[in-house]
This record gives sequence, C-alpha cells and structure tokens, in this order.
Amino acid sequence: MLRIKPTNQISGTIRVPGDKSISHRAVMFGALAKGTTRIEGFLPGADCLSTIQCFKQMGIEIEQAGDRVTVQGKGWYGLQEPSSRLDVGNSGTTIRLMAGIMATQPFHVVMEGDESIAKRPMRRVIGPLRQMGAKIDGRKEGEFTPLSIRGGGLTGISYESPVASAQVKSAILLAGLQAQGETSVTEPHLSRDHTERMLQAFGVQVERDGLTVRVKGGQELQGRDIQVPGDISSAAFLIAAVMMVPGSSLLIENVGINPSRTGIIDVVRQMGGGLELLNEKLVNEEPVADLLVTYAPLHGIEIAGDIIPRLIDEIPVIAVMATQAAGQTVIRDAQELKVKETDRIATVVSQLSKFGAQVEPTDDGMVITGSSKLKGAVIDSMGDHRIGMAMAIAGLAAQGETQIENDEAIAVSFPGFSELLSRISL
Ligand code: S3P
Repeated sequence: MLRIKPTNQISGTIRVPGDKSISHRAVMFGALAKGTTRIEGFLPGADCLSTIQCFKQMGIEIEQAGDRVTVQGKGWYGLQEPSSRLDVGNSGTTIRLMAGIMATQPFHVVMEGDESIAKRPMRRVIGPLRQMGAKIDGRKEGEFTPLSIRGGGLTGISYESPVASAQVKSAILLAGLQAQGETSVTEPHLSRDHTERMLQAFGVQVERDGLTVRVKGGQELQGRDIQVPGDISSAAFLIAAVMMVPGSSLLIENVGINPSRTGIIDVVRQMGGGLELLNEKLVNEEPVADLLVTYAPLHGIEIAGDIIPRLIDEIPVIAVMATQAAGQTVIRDAQELKVKETDRIATVVSQLSKFGAQVEPTDDGMVITGSSKLKGAVIDSMGDHRIGMAMAIAGLAAQGETQIENDEAIAVSFPGFSELLSRISL
C-alpha cells in the first residue's frame, strides 16, 4: 500500500522513465529488423517487459539491463513459432501491435493477458486484419482474448478506422508492410504517430496525407540505435503535482514532445498554469525538450474534439488538477476512456469522489467543479496504473493521509514513481 501525505511544496530537477509507446516499438521493430538494435532510455516497466518476453519466446535474442536493451534482429521472417501461449500481461499495446505482426507470420500463435486485457475490445484490430486475409479467432467471435492467429498471405486494404487509435493504425500498417500492394489507414482524428516515425528511422517508406497513412508491402527494416525520451504521460503526473501545490516548480528534463502527445501541455497552459519548453531537439525523428513547470492558480476549461487523442492517457490526472481549478472543467468526446485498463470514466469518478471532489460522469467524459478542498481517502487503483498515480497526486493536496491500495499496478508504466514523488515533496 502506498501512503501519501500532503505536501507544502513540490520542487526539483528530475527525469521520468522512458516513453512506453516508443519503448514497445523499439523492441518490436528491432526484433523484426535485420541486424542489431541498441536501445537507451528503455522503460523497464511491466508492459514493455511483456513485449520483450513475447519476442524471446519466438527465438529473438534480447538482453535487457535497466534502461538498456540490445535486440539481435533476424529480419521479418526470423521469428519462430512459439511452443506456448504469448502472455501480454496488462499491455494493450503489446497484444494489438503484435496482432498486426503475427498476421504476417506463416505460423500459429495464441496471445492472452491478465483480467483487464480479457475485457478489452480486440475486434477493432482483428476485423481489418481478417479483411487482409489473416486467420484470427478469439472469444465472442474474436472480440476478446485469447486470440488465436495463423498469419501469412495478406493483401493490402484501404481502411477507414471508426476510432482514433494508434494501436489499430499501427497493427494495420505493420501487417501492410508484408501484404501485397499498398495498405492505408484513415483516422477520424490524428492518433499518436510513433509507429510512422520509428518505421522511417528503421528505413521504411511511409507516406502521410492528412489523416491517411500509407505503406507499400515487401519492405524490410534495418536495425539501428534508438534513444527513448522520457514519457510525457508519466511527466503529466508531476506537472499536475506542481499545479496542486501553490509555490511549486519543477524542471523535468528530456521529455518527448511529439505533437500527437502534447495535449497535456496545451491544457495546463489554457487552465493558466506555467509551462515552458527548453532545449528543444529532434532525436530519432521524435521531438524532445525540458519542461519548466511553475505553479499558477488554475481555472476550468472545456476539453473536447481533436485534442482528446492527444491526451487520452492524461485524463485521470487532468480530472485531479481540475478539482483545484476555479469553475467547471468539462471533458467530452472521450468515450475511449471506457475501454482502457479500466473504465476510466467510472474509476476516476468513484475514486476521486472519495476525496470529496465534485465530479460527475457523462456518456463521453465527465464534469469536474472546483475548486474544492480535498480530504485524504483510502483509494483502490483497481489494478490501473494511471488511476493509482492520479489519486496519489490528489493526495498531495488533500488534508490528512491518503492510502493507495493495489499500488503495485503503478510499475506497469512508472517504476520508481513513489520514490520520485517523495524526493520532490518538501
Ligand atoms: C498507445 C495508444 C493509445 C494509448 C496507449 C498506448 C500506443 O491507445 O492509450 O496507452 O502505444 O499505441 P489507443 O491506440 O487504443 O487509443
């Protein structure tokens, strides 16, 4: 159990662990590439370790020590049929991106994960992969795990995705790299584009035209070195910590600021918080900067439309910040929250209410009315890393102690979270 005491000030210069999305992709693409890929700044969180384990089961040599990983790629068809099921743990990115990769492989594989994965929708990925010719089945006609995949013999498709999901887009593009002809994906709003950027870094040709991305089949990847920037989704908890406690400031170094991920920066600035970008640079096609975050009194805003995919994982902690903002914060167009590690509309509302916050669920988001004085509470992460961390941040501004039960979920994306939080809490 994690105990959080209210704090007088947040201050310091810190780094956050590597970006989860980029770490997954670096391992996957390294495993499919020809030659060696060395990764620095890798996130040694449970999700990314699941990805490593899956590729090891298919005969890929991977060495991992802390945030350094070496992958000995054997080319796209260097994977071997695994002799047992692949366990993706809690990781939606692992199972959905790997479904795209497995759809190209001339063998059989079964993938499954934990209780949360068993409830998450899979047809959004396997529907288009079936259209390309992959043989995939799963519980409830393929909606749920375990997924059974026999791949190979794919043909390219032009897919109009009903959801803005990087996991869906990436799975189809990866399958498209070994399909006949061209494959394209069009999204309703732009989702994170790390796959497109990293494929280019591995020597693949990817074309973008507005909300459509295209790849041609028959392309090979070349191994290379990847430096993973800090995860802006992890930085978001610490940005929020600054905004919860008057007089606070924090320098967060080396954070990825890919525009498809920076909704949190826009929101903090719109709410009145201080956030400056320093030392901007480009590393392996990904923009990176230091974030100088300074407390200022916040006011409520409306968050909806195109910005939602740019901050989808940050909504739990944005809701926490909104409890300290004057007036209403309205979050709309965020139905996707219902199919994350938990139903995050329900879990944010149930856990944040325990602090005495005013938060009402809606069909596609929530309404938070601030500012309210929070009181310490006993919280359940519900097995969701981001719920556990968001509620820990709420605890910093609450009167009395807060206890987070099932806090081990936090290691999914942010090992060392509680130690870092104590280090910056004065
Ligand atoms: C991710 C995409 C997002 C995000 C998840 C990571 C990725 O999911 O919520 O944490 O690495 O591609 P969706 O693509 O389902 O929106």
